[in-house]
Amino acid sequence: MSQKYSKIIQGCMTWGVWGKKLNTSQMVESIHHCVEQGLTTFDHADIYGDYTTEGEWGYAFAKANIAREQIQIISKCGIQMKGAHRPENVVKHYQYTKEYIISSAERSLKELRADYLDLFLLHRPSPLMNPAEIAEAVEALKSSGKIKDFGVSNFTNDQVDMLRCKTEVASNQIEISLTSTESLTDGTLDYCISNNVIPMSWSPLGSFFKEDTPQNERISEVLSTLSNKYSATTDQLLIAWLLKHPAGIHPVIGTTNFDRIEKAIEAQSIQLELQDWFAMLEASTGHEVA
Ligand SMILES: NC(=O)c1ccc[n+]([C@@H]2O[C@H](COP(=O)([O-])OP(=O)(O)OC[C@H]3O[C@@H](n4cnc5c(N)ncnc54)[C@H](OP(=O)(O)O)[C@@H]3O)[C@@H](O)[C@H]2O)c1
Repeated sequence: MSQKYSKIIQGCMTWGVWGKKLNTSQMVESIHHCVEQGLTTFDHADIYGDYTTEGEWGYAFAKANIAREQIQIISKCGIQMKGAHRPENVVKHYQYTKEYIISSAERSLKELRADYLDLFLLHRPSPLMNPAEIAEAVEALKSSGKIKDFGVSNFTNDQVDMLRCKTEVASNQIEISLTSTESLTDGTLDYCISNNVIPMSWSPLGSFFKEDTPQNERISEVLSTLSNKYSATTDQLLIAWLLKHPAGIHPVIGTTNFDRIEKAIEAQSIQLELQDWFAMLEASTGHEVA
């Protein structure tokens, strides 16, 4: 099941105006670089770049001259942002009517210049979602060949269960990293194992490169020792830590830096020893396990 996607997934949230503002030739080059390294799965959402990044990426992908079957495309729907691209939205909200889910998938396909999505996710759980209605949308999208698999993002186990009564849920994309370890202890990853749900981790490097905190100081100290032991960079160790988990986590990386992408892919060959894994956990929590 999890071989459907590359183990490391390229997140595209910051390729456009929400970050790097890559132009078309830079996007083409980046897509080629990822695919040549075996990083063939790309993670999108309708909202990235205020609804503009899918279209820019799709234009670049069409120019990249890579067969559609060589890559896998993930996209998400449901968050309704305010702003110039959605003037009708006076308040940020979630929308999961059958019509909206189908039209959002169709819009993403048009923007991405693709005939199908490999995986289509509900971006955030809504208190108003109706599983029967969602399942009808999913079945319509699957039977028309517009999506291959359906999944969710940021859902609790109860919310996944509610949907699974009506339709198959292939994946849950959640925040998991050495600085966000809740899913290791709140049952989310255990649930993924028991129910064949593929976990994908967004922000797999956590806050490590983003914030100066006592937690990150502790982690930094441990990583500096382990970097020497494994001849690995700190970002590689953070990814290797996720990859050791038996749930088969797919890290969704955000960097667009070619060297860092290559390092992330190489991190798959790092086998962290058991006690090193726990030393990293201890640095994160600030205390040894009970
Ligand atoms: N489902 C959801 O709700 C959700 C939410 C958020 C994100 N996502 C997905 O997850 C993807 C990844 O999220 P993320 O960008 O937060 O992931 P991340 O991979 O944890 O963080 C990437 C950031 O870390 C920096 N970085 C990486 N290696 C570094 C190093 N060695 N030294 C210093 N900085 C380093 C990168 O900078 P450079 O780019 O400069 O290398 C980039 O800004 C997104 O693109 C999106 O597809 C999904």
